[in-house]
Order: sequence, then C-alpha cells, then structure tokens
Amino acid sequence: MQAARPFVFGTSASGENFTDRVEETAHLLANFRHGVNTILISPRRWGKTSLVQRAVEQTQSSDLLVVYLDIFSCRDEEEFYQQFARAVLKQTASRLEEYIAYAKDFLARLSPKLSLGDGVSMDVSLALDLKGKPLAAEDVLNLPEQIARRKACRIVVCIDEFQQIGEFRDSVAFQKRLRGVWQLQQSTSYCLLGSRKHLMHELFEKSDLPFYKFGDTLHLGRIPIQDWAGYICQRFQRTGKAISPELATRIAEAVDRHSSYVQQLAWLVWVHTQETATEAQYEQALQQLVEQNSPLFEKQTEGLSSYQLNFLRAVLDGHTEGLAKRELMEEYRLGSSANVSRIKGALLGKELIDQQGDQLFISDPILRLWLGQRLFP
Ligand SMILES: Nc1ncnc2c1ncn2[C@@H]1O[C@H](COP(=O)(O)OP(=O)(O)OP(=O)(O)O)[C@@H](O)[C@H]1O
Ligand SMILES: [Mg+2]
Repeated sequence: MQAARPFVFGTSASGENFTDRVEETAHLLANFRHGVNTILISPRRWGKTSLVQRAVEQTQSSDLLVVYLDIFSCRDEEEFYQQFARAVLKQTASRLEEYIAYAKDFLARLSPKLSLGDGVSMDVSLALDLKGKPLAAEDVLNLPEQIARRKACRIVVCIDEFQQIGEFRDSVAFQKRLRGVWQLQQSTSYCLLGSRKHLMHELFEKSDLPFYKFGDTLHLGRIPIQDWAGYICQRFQRTGKAISPELATRIAEAVDRHSSYVQQLAWLVWVHTQETATEAQYEQALQQLVEQNSPLFEKQTEGLSSYQLNFLRAVLDGHTEGLAKRELMEEYRLGSSANVSRIKGALLGKELIDQQGDQLFISDPILRLWLGQRLFP
C-alpha cells in the first residue's frame, strides 16, 4: 500500500489535508443554505477549489444539493451548456431512471442523446443538440431550477474557473443571458469562483456589465501563520520525523503563506530530513523550489520588453508605489509617466505583479526569489 503523503499539492486539498479556513467554510455554508449567490476570488493556488469542495462535502443533504463543475476547458457557450447539463444531471439525480426522466422532461427541445454505460450506474454520456436553438439553450440554464422544484429542495451550482466565460465569443451577450435567467430562479443559487483576478474583477465589478452586484463577494485570504506552523509540525511528527516550530514558521513565511508553495516547500524539506529538519535542509529545499519553477518563470518573462523588466526590477527593489516620479523613472529608465501606467497595466494583466491599494508587489513569492537570483542578481 502507498503511504499517505504528508503534504499535498497539485490537486485540491481535502479531508485531513485541509487546514484552517474555518470561518470561510462557515460563511460559504451559510450562503449555500440561505440561497445567497457567492463570488469567490483569489490569486492562483491559494485554495478556492479546496474550500468550495470542502463546503460541498459538508452541505449535501436531502433538502440541499450542491453541484460542482469546472469550466476551465470550455471554449465557447455551447461547450458550457453541454458541461453544465451533464454536471447538473449527474450530481442531482439519485438513480439512473431519474437522470433519464430529467433529461427527457426538461431538455426535450434539445433532443438529448443518452448513451448508457452498464444501464445501472450513472455512467451516462449526454449530448445536446444546440445548433440554431438559442432559446432552447435557456432550458439548460433552467435545469437546476426545474429539478429543485420537482425534488422540493434547494440547489447550489458552483462553477469553478468562471473567469473563462470572459473569453467566449460575444461574452457580454452570454453573461446577460445567464444573469437574466438566473435572477428569476427561486430555488437555485450560484457560487462562482475564479482565479484570473483582473478578469474576475471585470466580470463582477464593472457597473455596466451584467454580473455587477450579483452576490456576496469573498476575497480569499492567506491561511494564518500559526495554522501553517501547527500543520507542518504535526505532519512531520506523524510520519516519525521532527521540525521545530521556528523552522516550520519560516517555511510558511518564505513563500508568503501561499498555500500551494507552503505544501510544496514543506514536502521538499520533509524529503531531505532524516530525523529532525535542519536549517541547511530548509535552505536546500527552498533553492530546489526555485529551480523547479525556473522553466516556468523563464517562459513568463522571456517576452517582456526592457521597460517591463526595468519596472519589475524597481518593484523588486522595494519601490512599490510612485513609480511615475521623475527620479524613479530616470533611475530605472521607465520612459514617460504615460509609459509607466501602460507598463503597469501590462504587468498586472500578465499577473506578474499585483496591486493592493496603491502598493504594487510581485505576486509570486518564488518568482520574486528567482528574479533576484537570475535576472537582477
Ligand atoms: N485549506 C488548505 N489546507 C491545506 N492546503 C491547502 C488548503 N488550501 C489550499 N491548499 C494547498 O494549495 C494548493 C492549491 O489549492 P486549490 O487547488 O484549492 O487552489 P485554487 O485557488 O483553486 O487554485 P487555482 O487558481 O489553480 O484553481 C493545494 O494543492 C494545497 O497544496
Ligand atoms: Mg481551483
């Protein structure tokens, strides 16, 4: 049998691998139970999916069903409908007969084609004929509401990587349609989560776009340092190794408590540790983490203009605001102030930098180390 891994990354964290987020989980659960639409935003890999899946696990009951789907791979509106219908049917029907009945009763205008696996389990593939039927597409959007009424329950649909819809052709028309249908529903609510921060903001915070003020917006923060330290120490202990609380704290701090990196760095330290983790092993692991990410960072930075690189260097040197001041523009060769604002926009768009209030910072803590070591030593 495979030994349980003490640290997880690369997939969402669940069960005993999930730590903290007690308040956020309770908040989400309350929104689910009371039918409040929720928008959940955070930078990449901070733990949105893990959190929502946690809430999903804890919510399922006969009067509240939660459906989860990830639309990262959906290229257009049609793919969205197909995937939406499949997820809703599969996750709300309790038996195969129910699945078939819902498809026939609620999606008739879309001539649903079902191919059944073994004819017993819910191993069904569903294809809808959407060609030239824009109105019938709304039947798909109404599917959860219809099912909720029939089952006399409430349904929450969680859509992960929701920012993807910003990339669809005629995105605004599609958003209008979604919003138009969704806002009339009584028994269905939505939890929309996404990571490309500027896109998510655009969808929900531009007053002329359909999703403006759609629901309760949660900005997922970082997991507190004490939680991470406790979690790391306990993981070492449970696998017959040890780490001091100080070193565990340094692991979390070195990566700004960025969830995925904390797990990854802790894992690398754990791998090197025989009995008790040492300072040297920590340094070695941190360097390894930088190396592992190096190809990705090279790719992210290779197409940058020299202005953009100069700007990054200024931020890295601690100039987190006021880059349009004459001295800084000269020192870092940033061109004019109009140029500075253009560069800033481009780097924010590429998510290489982030902004909180007036302060700019390099979003990725390991990228920051890499820039310091490789590009601007
Ligand atoms: N509550 C948690 N407890 C422990 N580890 C966590 C937690 N949340 C996230 N992580 C760590 O962070 C990683 C990323 O989590 P997750 O996939 O949920 O983030 P995400 O915000 O959905 O990322 P993406 O932007 O890529 O969709 C996980 O693999 C895990 O290592
Ligand atoms: Mg995710």
